[in-house]
Amino acid sequence: MTEPTLSTQASSRQATSMRTHLCGELREADIGSTVSVCGWVGRRREHGEHLAFVDLRDHSGIVQCVINDDVDVRSEYVLKITGTVRVRPEGTVNDNLPTGKVEIGDCEVEILRTATPPPFPIDARADDVDENIRLKHRYLDLRRERMQKNLRLRSKINAAVRNAMDLQQFVEVETPMLVPSTPEGAREFLVPSRKEPGSFYALPQSPQLFKQLLMVAGVDRYYQMARCLRDEDLRADRQYEFMQMDMEMSFVNQDDVLDAVSEAVLAAAEAATGERPAPIERITWHDAMNRFGSDKPDLRFAMELQELTPVFANTEFKAFAGAGAIKAIKVNGGASEYGRNQLDKLTDKAKSAGAKGMVWLKCTDEGFDSPVAKFLSDDEVPAVKAAMSAETGDLILIIADQWDTTCEVLGMLRNEIARPPVHEGPYRYVWVIEFPLFVGRNKETGQPKSGHHPFTMPHPDDLDKFETDPMSVRSIAYDLVLNGWELGSGSIRIHEPELQRKVFTALGISDEEAEKKFGFFLNPFEYGAPPHGGFAFGLDRLVAILAGEENIREVIAFPKTQSGSDPMTNSPIPGDPKAMTELGLKVLPPTD
Ligand code: AMO
Repeated sequence: MTEPTLSTQASSRQATSMRTHLCGELREADIGSTVSVCGWVGRRREHGEHLAFVDLRDHSGIVQCVINDDVDVRSEYVLKITGTVRVRPEGTVNDNLPTGKVEIGDCEVEILRTATPPPFPIDARADDVDENIRLKHRYLDLRRERMQKNLRLRSKINAAVRNAMDLQQFVEVETPMLVPSTPEGAREFLVPSRKEPGSFYALPQSPQLFKQLLMVAGVDRYYQMARCLRDEDLRADRQYEFMQMDMEMSFVNQDDVLDAVSEAVLAAAEAATGERPAPIERITWHDAMNRFGSDKPDLRFAMELQELTPVFANTEFKAFAGAGAIKAIKVNGGASEYGRNQLDKLTDKAKSAGAKGMVWLKCTDEGFDSPVAKFLSDDEVPAVKAAMSAETGDLILIIADQWDTTCEVLGMLRNEIARPPVHEGPYRYVWVIEFPLFVGRNKETGQPKSGHHPFTMPHPDDLDKFETDPMSVRSIAYDLVLNGWELGSGSIRIHEPELQRKVFTALGISDEEAEKKFGFFLNPFEYGAPPHGGFAFGLDRLVAILAGEENIREVIAFPKTQSGSDPMTNSPIPGDPKAMTELGLKVLPPTD
């Protein structure tokens, strides 16, 4: 056999001293070339005439190799195969495979490593294998086409984001992993100090404090692909460890931050899909709640909340009379689709989400079929139909409650009924702006609680409402939402002590408490803090959606299971007694 020539070697950008090509890149143009490929044995099929077909796989795909059947190669053996590319015999062409028209013949097989049979097939069938088994053998799971694609897409998105930030002259600065507590609000992972037994560092929930101090330091435009850690209950969009594209800018207003982040997100989307999405639209928090019943509105489908409060202004129906807001959604053609059982289930869901009840109406030619039809007056029936643009066969779901409960419950029902899985296109990005400065009240003190964090800039038009109507004060805080998932959050920060004090006062934080809790962070501002603002988005979430995955675990190389463990390394494990003694730690029995 002739050795592969230099010219064929040069045809692959991933040629090495062992291979001329990747398995997945051979095409009809390569017919006649002598090539070397390396990879793992996938399927093997006997071919008669003492020959066998072997699918050789590397990260780029598979290629069919025709080998002598007395060579003992088994599943997942690592091989180097040198042979001649030729056209596949008639009847064996596979149009579903990029390499499906060719095969490698006259193969010389070198076994680089034998392999134990894998615990699950290294292909799409492993999608159905138990999560714990996939994660226990993650290195095998990652060998699969789906996971290889996801890892590579992630890398591409990372590069696009970095490039976009670099082009906008942001400076990447690394912030520490051993930090004091940050006011992000989640539970922290603590790291005991050996030098000061009984004292702890926290792992960073985000680089928030440090990035603001970098603004005081005059860095002007900071970004970081930052690893963040939060001890939260895990779910599809949450892991203990995750990556943020974290940024902060000086001498800016909200538009500057939104533009800079949009640039990075749209560049990432373009790198992933080949298409640059349209400029990202904006909606105020109030409109998002009012129209979609969510601060994470999924704009891929309509079913907007409709206003019925004026329709029932003088109603005699007790459940509606006096409600702060009466609103409804319409399920087109839903009357026949939703039976009593399903409607009862939706009512239960509405109640567990905080509503007193849910009223349903099925539109008929005459009026409504509904348990409450008899309580509605003759003018209310046509007025509801008109307000909802309802036609015979439609189903209307009504909630009457305080404005926020009405919106939230209908938003939940809207998602429950019509929301497609998060990763299904089209991709709908939206900025939600003007979040309220305060959300809810402290049960003990009755003081308002921070919506974002206590350093968020209040809306300048609402400063006079602090005393009179604090809950209506808006902030310059914004979220980026994609297909109903929160991708990221940020705000313009307070940089003036007077305003900061005003916010602390509204939150019920005294000067002494502020000094104790946040002094190390706020005192540096006395040395000249520039006006600044920033943002952070979850890279794992963006990659998952762009990869068409429903769970961020699928785009993280070594994630934790839903219950927070790693079956591959068996972590977490009990502390080593010697190390515990050194750290001055003792494990107490569980309290409950
Ligand atoms: P926030 O807490 O909203 O803001 O976090 C920003 C984004 O980080 C992602 N994220 C997570 N991703 C995976 N698993 C988790 N457990 C997890 N928690 C958060 C989300 C989220 O939108 N310092 C502020 C930002 C700022 O104000 O500049 C912050 O961290 O996508």
